[in-house]
Parts: sequence; structure tokens; C-alpha cells
Amino acid sequence: MRAQHLRAWERLGHRYVLEPPRRASSTSIAPGHPLDVVSAFGRSAPLIVEIGSGTGESLVAMAAARPESNVLAFEVYLPGIARTVARLHELSLQNVRLVQADAVDGLSHLLGPESIEELWTFFPDPWPKARHHKRRLVDRAFADLTVSRLRVQGSWRLATDWADYAEQLHEVLDAAQDLENVGDPKTGWSQRFVDRPVTRFEQRGIDAGRTVRDLHYRRR
Ligand SMILES: C[S@@+](CC[C@H](N)C(=O)[O-])C[C@H]1O[C@@H](n2cnc3c(N)ncnc32)[C@H](O)[C@@H]1O
Repeated sequence: MRAQHLRAWERLGHRYVLEPPRRASSTSIAPGHPLDVVSAFGRSAPLIVEIGSGTGESLVAMAAARPESNVLAFEVYLPGIARTVARLHELSLQNVRLVQADAVDGLSHLLGPESIEELWTFFPDPWPKARHHKRRLVDRAFADLTVSRLRVQGSWRLATDWADYAEQLHEVLDAAQDLENVGDPKTGWSQRFVDRPVTRFEQRGIDAGRTVRDLHYRRR
């Protein structure tokens, strides 16, 4: 962790980073302690969840553009969270909270059914080697979990620059019972989510000649 981010983490972490009870590792969540979202944010507001917020490059810009929403991020990488804390402080944002947690544990144990208005999953780790595809975050089980946490009519927006992961997302999410693809009726791809800035990860994909795909689903 760079010294300036470590300092931000130590000085400001408590303002933005929630510390729920753990089950085992530092990214696990103990069952039986659901998050009191109103007290975590100090207000009741529509809830947006970002999964895998990285260094907060897109999270902070998008949360700044949505002051009327509470934005909760699950991220496993501590230096990324520290960097995000520094960015949040720079903009004095009040509507973001972070949890260092695996998204499956976070969604399963911290949030109740039908609690999320909008979910963002941008550039999930691609695990490009075929033998590692099973490590990809979004599969059938994860889609089912996510759908259960979305409110009816709630949105799930995703993006990836890896063609076979895009196809996998398309296939898995189109097959999920309670999700409706609200992208292009012919191709199923969505237009670029206008609020989403180009991050370092996206730029790397573009520089390598890969096509970025956005997907947009709504809970029926
Ligand atoms: C390729 S980065 C993309 C970061 C960010 N969304 C962006 O577009 O800049 C993927 C991020 O997901 C995080 N991640 C991977 N698996 C996760 C999981 N199971 N739960 C939460 N975060 C996860 C990684 O630590 C990493 O920061």
C-alpha cells in the first residue's frame, strides 16, 4: 500500500469502511448480522451496490453523480479500498460505504432480499485461461443470489472487455428466470452506461484492441 493511501486508510477509514463481524478470513462475513443500512449511511435512500470497486475510479465518479442514492461497495483488495477512501475524502462524498468482503458473502449475509435498487459489476476479473474460468465471479449461482437481492424492476449493469466472458454473462443472465435483458433486442448488448467513466482496466482493454461490452438487466 502506498504511504499516502495507508495514511488515508488510518485517518479516514472509519468514516467510509464498515467492519461487520467475520466468519473466518478478513474477506468473509459472519451470518446472522445483517447490515443496518440506514444507520450505516445515516439516512434512508435507494441502495446501489458495486461489486469489485477496485481503486474506486468509477465508484467515486458515479456516486458523486448520484447524491440521492446510498452506494455500498464490496471489494476484497485492501490497497484498492485505501485508494478509494482517499478519493472519497478528496471529494468529501458522504453517500459511499465500503466493506472489505467477498461479494458472495456480502450479498448473502449483509443484505436482505429485494434490498438493492441497482447493482454494478464492471470489469470483473476475467480469468482468461480456460482452466481458470471456474473462478469467474458471475455464474449461475451468483446470478440467482444477485436476483434475490434486487428489488422488482431493479437494474443490474455489467461491463467486460473479454469477449468470452461477455458471452458467458449474456448466456447466464438471459437464462436467469427473473431477469429481463433490457439491452438491444437483436444483439442483447446494451449501450455504454453513460455514467461509467473509462477506468484504467477499461483503457487497458481498449489499448489491447478488445471490444468493451455493456450488459443491462432488470429484475422482473
Ligand atoms: C478488474 S478489477 C475492476 C475494478 C473496477 N470495477 C474498475 O472497473 O476499475 C476487478 C476487481 O474486483 C475485485 N474482486 C474480485 N473478486 C471479488 C469478489 N469475489 N468480491 C469482491 N470483489 C472482488 C478485485 O479485487 C478487483 O479490484
